[in-house]
Amino acid sequence: MASSNALLPPVEHRRAGSVDIVLGIQWGDEGKGRVIDLLAGDYAIVARFGGGDNAGHSIQVGDQKLALRIVPSGALVPSTKLHIGAGTVVSLNGLITELDALAAIGVDISRITISDRAQIVFPFHAALDQAAERARGGAAIGTTGRGIGPAYVDRVGRAGVTFGDLRTPAILAERIRLSLLAKAPLFAAAGEVPGEDDVVAQTRAAAERLLPHVVDGVAYINEALERGDDVLAEGAQGTLLDVTYGSYPYVTSSSTIAGGACTGLGIGPGAVRSVTGVVKAYCTRVGGGPFPSELPDDEAARLREAGREFGVVTGRPRRCGWFDAVAARYANRVNGLDRLIVTKLDVLSGFERVGIVTGYRRADGSPAGVEAMGEPGLKPEIEYHPGWSESLREVRHVKNLPRDARAYLDRLANVTGVPVALVSVGPERTAFAA
Ligand code: IMP
Ligand code: MG
Repeated sequence: MASSNALLPPVEHRRAGSVDIVLGIQWGDEGKGRVIDLLAGDYAIVARFGGGDNAGHSIQVGDQKLALRIVPSGALVPSTKLHIGAGTVVSLNGLITELDALAAIGVDISRITISDRAQIVFPFHAALDQAAERARGGAAIGTTGRGIGPAYVDRVGRAGVTFGDLRTPAILAERIRLSLLAKAPLFAAAGEVPGEDDVVAQTRAAAERLLPHVVDGVAYINEALERGDDVLAEGAQGTLLDVTYGSYPYVTSSSTIAGGACTGLGIGPGAVRSVTGVVKAYCTRVGGGPFPSELPDDEAARLREAGREFGVVTGRPRRCGWFDAVAARYANRVNGLDRLIVTKLDVLSGFERVGIVTGYRRADGSPAGVEAMGEPGLKPEIEYHPGWSESLREVRHVKNLPRDARAYLDRLANVTGVPVALVSVGPERTAFAA
């Protein structure tokens, strides 16, 4: 119950529509795209709240594989509107390419909108991203090289250009001038100074194509909620890649956690009804940085092949390891999870034993949590469970899973403290067991 005192009556919630947040709680690539594709039909709007085209959400339809980078993963559900929220950073040409690809397969792209407060990623941001990575050498973050970090730097550095700026040519030109000016020393150091007139001309050309999709994002989402429409807020990347709460500095530059849905869509926390964490039955990470449950090369290779763990955006092989319950418990705290959706359980079929990391130990033997990630000598404590050999692909009810698979799922819920609501058991669009 809300607290009150003699002067102030308790708060009554007045809300019509609700927001349900679905986000990844590992290092991204948990299979959020498929989950959102499955749930989208229940929502008036699916809205991305952060990140850019560093994300790659793939959905398999028959033998076609659709890779979405910035357009929300409800794209294949015709009844749902798709919104790219203010918290995102978006490449103009990247978005145009994606719109064209969707239109080409018959998707109605008029239902795609982008917030006027979303930030533009320019080609020079990608150049700066790649230059920064080269400069870090062996300490490189392993970014996707798409300019995501430098675009967010421009936002907080007050040197960015928004989609709303596209509406007024004079404002657009001035914002671009100031944005380039702010980075003049960086461009000079990189030996490549983008031509202001070229950037303005290219941006104006793209603006013509994209302006019909640009909306007042705050009004768009909140008017929908006021009408009683429900919104599915789609996370990108994962909790351990959050700029503040992730394995810093090996993170992306946006807020990937539940709180990011509020800042990234311009809604109050009271509008949020639930938070669902999507989690893979094992763990992967792409790029540099600590990964306590990572397996040695040969064992990782087996998981990588079984789970086809290669990046959608960059094609990079993903690092693979066991389920990390320490990280999942932490993700539960920072997101306030109501439930888990476990993905890719089928990938574990055929392993003699399946591990769960239940704790970390420092080099001196003392127990540690996520705060110690990256410390030299940190060791995982692994609990092994008997594997199962049966294929799970045709199973549609959790009660029909092999006994050891069910025991493993029960243990995941138990060690993370969050109930498991749904399990994916194959790559096809409908391969879920409830
Ligand atoms: P950036 O987001 O391109 O700056 O990359 C920063 C870190 O986040 C790198 O380790 C990337 O591999 C990782 N990353 C970014 N987007 C994704 C994603 O969608 N899935 C998995 N990892 C990602
Ligand atoms: Mg991905």
